[in-house]
Amino acid sequence: MQTELTYLDNASTSWPKAPSVAQAMLEAVQNPVGNPGRGQHRISRHAGEATQCLRESVAKLINAPSPDRISLSSGSTASLNMALLGLLWLHPHPKGKRPRVVTTVLEHNAVRRPLKHLERDGICEIVEVRSSPDGFVDPEEIVAAAADERCAAVAMTMCSNVIGTAQPIEAIGRGLHARAPHVLFIADGAQAMSALPIDVQAMHIDVLAFSGHKAMLGPGGTGGMYVSERAYANTDGTWGPIRPTQFGGTGGTLAGSIEDFNPPRHARRLRGRHLQRRRPRRPPGRPVRPRRPLPTRGPRPRAAASSGCSLIASRATSA
Ligand SMILES: Cc1ncc(COP(=O)(O)O)c(C=O)c1O
Repeated sequence: MQTELTYLDNASTSWPKAPSVAQAMLEAVQNPVGNPGRGQHRISRHAGEATQCLRESVAKLINAPSPDRISLSSGSTASLNMALLGLLWLHPHPKGKRPRVVTTVLEHNAVRRPLKHLERDGICEIVEVRSSPDGFVDPEEIVAAAADERCAAVAMTMCSNVIGTAQPIEAIGRGLHARAPHVLFIADGAQAMSALPIDVQAMHIDVLAFSGHKAMLGPGGTGGMYVSERAYANTDGTWGPIRPTQFGGTGGTLAGSIEDFNPPRHARRLRGRHLQRRRPRRPPGRPVRPRRPLPTRGPRPRAAASSGCSLIASRATSA
């Protein structure tokens, strides 16, 4: 007898997913989807358009000023780590002047653990604000703790993953904007995204981390973050307080990234090395080994098509 499954762990990861999600995933593995921004061919450009369309939908959902402020990642943990490490770890601070981060006792490990590691390594000082017995933080207490010149950020959850209390994010954002404008407001929106209305501009949020696999009903390993312009990088090519923790891919035209490598020379050198490797030199005096003759009877040797070297193997056999 088959028993029906009653799934109650949706705050951890949602199920069932929307039928359109399954359909899109199937299409993505059955058809060539291309690599967004990595090629000029039609399929790659189509992938770029699909990514941009996703950014536009997310930006609309949270009232971000532009889809360019949306960065995609594997989920809230990845986004929060990128934001916290990019802000604190990669920012040298004068000796004896550790930046302060205000957080709460309600945090998920995605906020708590990176902060604890940074504190243990002497990189920041954590101020943990308590909650009321019914699970709410007091906006006044958060803003008062942040109104100190050493404070770099407030990093906190929008909605507790344990007791489900939605925090007064708009009041905190407004308070920070008025009394501690130098402080970045980093919000963990894992539980709130798609479940509660979010307006990053009205809430004065600088970083909003979100998961795709919870209330957004997407597949596991998806998510991203909104990052305000003042927090990350300015359009004039200068960095904001959050530095990138990863380089590569098609990263844009920001100072300290691709221009520093002088691409043409760098690429020429690599190409030269690559060609040298493909034509190994025979040590002087060593006789040329005679080619093994192809068998005259029986099946011809088969190309190793499954290992992806069919082109090389077929050349060898027809030589
Ligand atoms: C409040 C909160 N923050 C962060 C996370 C981590 O999210 P992800 O699985 O997308 O890394 C979760 C996941 O349960 C969460 O509930």
